[in-house]
Amino acid sequence: TNQCKILGIETSCDDTGCAIVDDSGNILGEALNSQQEIHLNHGGIVPPVARDLHLKNIEHVVQSALKNANMKLEDVDAIATTVKPGLSLSLLVGMKYGKKLALESQKPFIPIHHMEAHALTIRMVQKVEFPFLVLLISGGHCLLAVARNVDDFLLLGKSRDDAPGEAFDKVARRLKLRNRPNFCNMSGGAAIELAAQQGDPLSLPFPAVMSHHRDCDFSFAGLKNKARRHIIDQEENFGVGEDGIIPGVHDVCASFLLAVAKHLCRRVERAMEYIELKCLLPPSNRVLVVSGGVASNKYIARMLGVVCREMKYKLAIPPPKLCTDNGVMIAWNGVEKWRAGIGIAQNIDEVDIEAK
Ligand code: KG4
Ligand code: ZN
Repeated sequence: TNQCKILGIETSCDDTGCAIVDDSGNILGEALNSQQEIHLNHGGIVPPVARDLHLKNIEHVVQSALKNANMKLEDVDAIATTVKPGLSLSLLVGMKYGKKLALESQKPFIPIHHMEAHALTIRMVQKVEFPFLVLLISGGHCLLAVARNVDDFLLLGKSRDDAPGEAFDKVARRLKLRNRPNFCNMSGGAAIELAAQQGDPLSLPFPAVMSHHRDCDFSFAGLKNKARRHIIDQEENFGVGEDGIIPGVHDVCASFLLAVAKHLCRRVERAMEYIELKCLLPPSNRVLVVSGGVASNKYIARMLGVVCREMKYKLAIPPPKLCTDNGVMIAWNGVEKWRAGIGIAQNIDEVDIEAK
């Protein structure tokens, strides 16, 4: 059999992650250092700052994951590391460290595509066979694809501007949601989801987005700008509270969340229609996998569930912890490649990062 234990390293953005995963999908050990808190104080990710933090933490994160697994480097079969896409300065830290470990221990090196890893994480926890439809929605990504095999993806559409998580983060920042004590440790998306629970989603109408575009692309900048203009209007007309927040904040959050969810649902529905037309998925494989940080939004998940019911798809979403960036998904992608006998670097010196 292809029994294996793979060590995975992730540094493509602002999380330094490492995990050891076996071919049954057991997480033997893991460690994660998130830089989110630090970047929030900068109002966004500053690449050299991210690089320095990866450099500072990577050794400790990898050693913690091994210790947590009660393993030594000799005990793993290969080192898998994200090499694309992402911030080049961040990717470089992980790749160099992963290569160093591989050379030291004389283990194979498996370069990993961050998006492919997100897309296949579900297979670690649930039986989902190729091919399937996948929607990746996070702070940095927004795409729809048919996952045909471990190394074969058909891209159906992507965002032409912001990713949905990015739009949530920017609107949350404009609303100054972090001034509220109970929101201060939350991502923008999670804060908007929570605030939206007390608001009326129909109070602020948003126009339909890209309804005349006959493809599966997305656009969130228009929705974000509409929210921004509304917030400015409200500030000018009604002022802000002691915490700097406008009175109608909950309604803005609820309406914006509904607009984003609707847009996601419409594009997914389009993709399902296109799949039907082109016979891209056999009826038995009608599964929609959703991953990325925004996939942990319960409101969006529920609305996607409605689309799936209508279109006779099954909806599969990994647990929130596995939706966001981490070493586990990279290690699991290493397992998938190892089992398929593909993707092991023949010449480790020739492996390089690709930011895009
Ligand atoms: O996957 P992730 O950890 O990092 C990447 O962007 O790759 O996703 C983080 C993004 C942030 O933009 C955050 O606002 C969003 O996911 N997010 C959410 C929720 N939790 C995190 N968006 C909407 N609803 C949530 N509950
Ligand atoms: Zn990601």
